[in-house]
Amino acid sequence: MQLYLGIETSCDDTSCAIYSPERGIVAYRTASQLDHAKYGGVVPEIASRTHMKTLLPLYETVMEEAGIGLGDLAGIGVTNGPGLTGSLLVGLSFAKAVAYGSGLPLAGIHHIEGHILANAIDQPMETPAVVLVVSGGHTQLFNVERPGRYELLGGTRDDAAGEAFDKIGKILGLPYPGGPSIEKAAREGDAAAFKFPRAMRSSGECDFSFSGLKTAVRLKVEELGEMSERTVVDVAASAQEAIVDALALKSVMAVERTKTSRFYIAGGVAANGRLREVMTERIGGAGAVVSWPPIEYCTDNAAMIACAAWHHLSAGRNDGLDLNTFPRGELKSWS
Ligand code: KG4
Ligand code: ZN
Repeated sequence: MQLYLGIETSCDDTSCAIYSPERGIVAYRTASQLDHAKYGGVVPEIASRTHMKTLLPLYETVMEEAGIGLGDLAGIGVTNGPGLTGSLLVGLSFAKAVAYGSGLPLAGIHHIEGHILANAIDQPMETPAVVLVVSGGHTQLFNVERPGRYELLGGTRDDAAGEAFDKIGKILGLPYPGGPSIEKAAREGDAAAFKFPRAMRSSGECDFSFSGLKTAVRLKVEELGEMSERTVVDVAASAQEAIVDALALKSVMAVERTKTSRFYIAGGVAANGRLREVMTERIGGAGAVVSWPPIEYCTDNAAMIACAAWHHLSAGRNDGLDLNTFPRGELKSWS
C-alpha cells in the first residue's frame, strides 16, 4: 500500500494526515488554534509559535494511529503557499527535515490546489469540471481539465467570500470566525428582511466583489442602532443570502460558458449548508451535478494536502530541499 504524509500549517490550523490512493485517509488530525478568537482574527506570531508547539506531537500521533514508521511512506506533501509566512515556514521546515532524514520525495503543494483536490480524497474527481474555491482568502472559479491542469475563469476583485462572512460577523458582534456564526444565526432569521446588494450582477465576467456588501451591512447596522436579537438574525440571514446568491450567479455563468456537466465546491465556505442547498438547485438547473468534500475536508486540513502529494509524486513531480514558501501567488498548472 502506498502511503503519503500531508502537512498543512498555512494559517491557524495545524494538520497532519496519511493518505493512501487505495484506502483513502488512513489517519488524520487537525489542531485548531483557539487563542485567536479573543483578538477577532488570526495573530500571525501566535499562529506560528503554536504550530511550533503542536506539529511534532500531532505528526507522532498520526503515525502511531496509522501504525506505520517513516519506512512505510512513499512521499511527503506540504503546503508552501499562499498563506502566512511564519506559519508556512514551520510546516515546510518540518517536512524538509523529515524528507532529508528519510530520503523520501517531497512535493510543495499550493494551498488552493489542496482545497480543489479535497474533492478527490474519497472518490476519483470527475473531470473536466468547474470548481468554486471559497475560503477566507480566496474566491475563485477554475476550469479543471484534470488534476494538475487549472484555468482561472474568474475571482474576487476585493474581499473573499469567507472574509465577507468574517467581517459581517464582527459587525454583528457574533463570535469569530463569522462564517459558522452567521450560518447558525441565519437559521433563525428571515433572509428577505433586508435587501443587500449583489455586486457585479450584470457584469459579463465570472468575477465577484464583496466589499460593497460589507459596507452596506455596516451602514444598515449603524442606521438600525440598538438591535434586538431578532434583527441580528435577520441581518445575518439577509447577508448570507446575498453572498450565496452572488456565488451561485457567477457559478451558473461558468457552467454555461464551459458547458461542463460536473461542478465542485471547495474551501472553508463550502461548509455552509445554505450555499450547498442553493448551488444544488441552481447549478442543477444549469445542467451540472454539484458536490463538495465532507465538512472536515472543507476547512483547512492536511488530508487534502496528502491527497495532492500523491497526485504530484505519482506523476513524477517533486521538489528539492531548496523549496521555499510564498505568501501570495496564483495556482498554476503543472501537468
Ligand atoms: O479554507 P479555510 O479553512 O481557510 C482559508 O484557506 O481561508 O476557510 C476559512 C473561511 C473563514 O472565512 C470562515 O468564516 C469560513 O471559511 N467558513 C464558513 C463556514 N465555515 C467556515 N463560512 C460560511 N459558513 C460556514 N459554515
Ligand atoms: Zn484554506
